[in-house]
Amino acid sequence: MEKAQINWSDLSFTYMETDSHLEYYFRDGKWDEGAVVKGDQVSLSIAATCLHYGQECFEGLKVFEDKNGDALVFRIDENAKRLKHSAETLMMEPFPEEKFIEAIYRLVRENKRFIPPYGSGASLYIRPVMLGVSGLVGVKPSDDYLFLAFCTPVGPYFPTGLKPIKLLVEETWDRAAPEGVGHAKAGGNYAAGLRVSKKVKSLGYQEALYLDAKQKKYIDESGPANFFAITKDGKYVTPKSNSILASITNKSLMTLAREMGMEVEQRPVDIAEMDTFKEAGCCGTAAVITPVKTITYKDKSVTLAEGDEVGPVVTSLYNKLTGIQCGDEEDTHGWVRKIELD
Ligand code: PLP
Ligand code: COI
Repeated sequence: MEKAQINWSDLSFTYMETDSHLEYYFRDGKWDEGAVVKGDQVSLSIAATCLHYGQECFEGLKVFEDKNGDALVFRIDENAKRLKHSAETLMMEPFPEEKFIEAIYRLVRENKRFIPPYGSGASLYIRPVMLGVSGLVGVKPSDDYLFLAFCTPVGPYFPTGLKPIKLLVEETWDRAAPEGVGHAKAGGNYAAGLRVSKKVKSLGYQEALYLDAKQKKYIDESGPANFFAITKDGKYVTPKSNSILASITNKSLMTLAREMGMEVEQRPVDIAEMDTFKEAGCCGTAAVITPVKTITYKDKSVTLAEGDEVGPVVTSLYNKLTGIQCGDEEDTHGWVRKIELD
């Protein structure tokens, strides 16, 4: 099949309509077999719990074309598991993990002409979403649910691409409460970050780096991604916190860092430790590894990348991760699955 006529190497992280999306409903106590729906509109009750009380959660994963033209997806089983966790956190009916994997394969098959070509630097971003759809006006969990999934070809999340970004430590506003739902991929967590994002951008930074909401002492994460640092003594250090999303990218990087001979520490990371950092990155499916140029906290800044130059450890981790994702590096952990497209 011919690929869609798209200028693949100019893509940014924006939405583009593809041929179809999927809709699976949970009604009368069971999930249906789902439907391929043309277009990008969905019909909902005006009283749906997702619209009023935030019963919504989602996932994000990427499909890459390898050099043989095969479609590869990275750690899809982890996304299936995390969506279940998010749904349970928000009192929603979990979407079965095996069904999740089959659904994503189905979506990709239906939209295969939108998979960016190998070497373009772009990928097909998959966005599974779950919504409470019962029309209820009282605050309680929905009876019925919709699992939908769409895809869109994307380029880099930050307009800077692989260029290092500037982070501002945000103390004034919080992203997620310590015993709240920051560990779930709930839409409301992102709405809570929008005003922060606007503020930090207006001050000339690309993203906020949040501290824990209780003590304002330990690093949590940045708006769309986890945070890690490489210390001056060569350790991979990344926050452990109940209010951040368990990033699949970060989990993978910790494994790769260990294999590269680094000591890995996942623990509360005091912002005062920023003086011990040599390199740092924001990591996630969309962000991949976005190198950090500076971290600014109160009246102090640390510089972790000179100009646009990416540090050696971040570069190695980036090359290894993206190499595995697009099939150029051996996948010794069984992280990558091939999607049959016919
Ligand atoms: N943290 C937040 C708030 C995110 O939205 C994401 C993106 O999914 C991540 C971290 C990174 O998670 P992952 O690596 O699984 O994409
Ligand atoms: C992802 O990385 O997949 C995300 O969902 C982050 C989002 C803010 C784009």
